[in-house]
Amino acid sequence: MNIVILAAGQGKRMHSNLPKVLHPIAGKALAQHVIDTARALAPEKMVVVYGHGGDVVRSTLAADDLAWVRQEPQLGTGHAVAQAVPALGASGQTLVLYGDVPLTRVETLKRLLHAGKDALSILTVDLANPTGYGRIVRDAVGNVQRIVEEKDATAEEKAIREVNTGIMAIPSARLADWLGRLSNNNAQGEYYLTDIVALAVAEGLPVRTAQPDGEWEVLGVNSKVQLAELERVHQRNIAEAMLVGGVRLADPARIDVRGEVSYGRDVSIDVGCVFEGKVELADAVEVGPYCVLKNVKVGAGSRIAAFCHFEDAVIGPDGVLGPYARLRPGTELGPEVHIGNFVEVKKSIIGAQSKANHLAYIGDAEIGQRVNVGAGTITCNYDGANKHKTIIEDDAFIGSDTQLVAPVTVGRGATLGAGTTLTQNAPPDALTVSRAKQVTLTGWRRPQKVKK
Ligand code: UD1
Ligand code: CA
Repeated sequence: MNIVILAAGQGKRMHSNLPKVLHPIAGKALAQHVIDTARALAPEKMVVVYGHGGDVVRSTLAADDLAWVRQEPQLGTGHAVAQAVPALGASGQTLVLYGDVPLTRVETLKRLLHAGKDALSILTVDLANPTGYGRIVRDAVGNVQRIVEEKDATAEEKAIREVNTGIMAIPSARLADWLGRLSNNNAQGEYYLTDIVALAVAEGLPVRTAQPDGEWEVLGVNSKVQLAELERVHQRNIAEAMLVGGVRLADPARIDVRGEVSYGRDVSIDVGCVFEGKVELADAVEVGPYCVLKNVKVGAGSRIAAFCHFEDAVIGPDGVLGPYARLRPGTELGPEVHIGNFVEVKKSIIGAQSKANHLAYIGDAEIGQRVNVGAGTITCNYDGANKHKTIIEDDAFIGSDTQLVAPVTVGRGATLGAGTTLTQNAPPDALTVSRAKQVTLTGWRRPQKVKK
């Protein structure tokens, strides 16, 4: 089987410098959705037809299993497929997909391919408003005769509501001949791929149709309005699958998944969350409202309060996080770790039951177990040129408003008094303070405003 993906169109109505098929749905380019779907069908050849200005399309989507054919100028869908023919295998079926129709299901395409085993098969759909589409013209007993484009259709043909989605499975052996016989003698002066239907009928080859389960599967994107509509459809489908899988969603209309979320039992997610990349939520994880999680693994029973932002981080079981916590790449939290409001953690490992509950920056640190990091603590990890490491051993207590000037180590069980600026290692089990001694100046008066 061959798959040809048509992606040469300009997409003028997107009003964008980005080629249409690179606009994202769920964070992934439209054409990438199509390529991924195509790949799931395990074709022998996959060819993308791209057009003028499409070099960025090619460089963005390049993959070992994709062949690229440039169509220049663009003389219609038949002309587009003809450009791909030399790159295709000559047996089996050739499936034509559109790079701007992102949500077709693999099962639907399998159905179409199956219907077309010894035939030409067309994915069609009945639309309440068929305006703009090619119409499927059938004879008195219901056999498909041809496709007529809107601009070439008579009033009677325009009344037909069954339309061509553009997706077809064509016998590869007939492709070159049929495409070679297309003419552009029509209202748009284009070589219509759809004209091969009449050629197949003339040869006595059966023409069959298959239908998608949902209309959204065959909707294309020509504008930002349609892009936004399909984004919602796609997100709704993802949310529905999560609900079916047992996740509690406070509102399935208010979640965005731009990647893959896997989940255990009794996971619950509040409104407004965005999940990107690969996110793993173990059993009984609770995600509060308006959190952004990208490439994050969350251990069982962890609770994430509102407005957290985590990226490339691993959170152990039974963690208590947020509200307003930020975990940056390279963060690894052990079991029962608490990271509270306005605490930023970067490239740091924090051991079991340690806590940093308020207003802190922990960067390039290794923190043991049961450590308490007081409010306002800062690891001064950057000297202006290089990053240095802070090590805090088990059971240490870091007083509020401490600066740890790295590289520095706080020994096991050590206590740092509040306001300490630690520039040398703090020994274990001792109190280290760097403050000046407190004095009170009796007789001191506040300055007064001078009266003029
Ligand atoms: C096409 C079909 C029509 C169908 C409709 C579904 C033809 C003649 N008509 O019409 O029956 O109902 O799609 O949306 O096939 N493309 C190229 N090179 C070209 C022309 C188009 O790569 O020279 C690509 C476009 O990028 C797009 C797809 O082919 O992905 C369809 O092109 P478009 O111009 O949208 O076709 P329609 O006129 O809408
Ligand atoms: Ca179109």
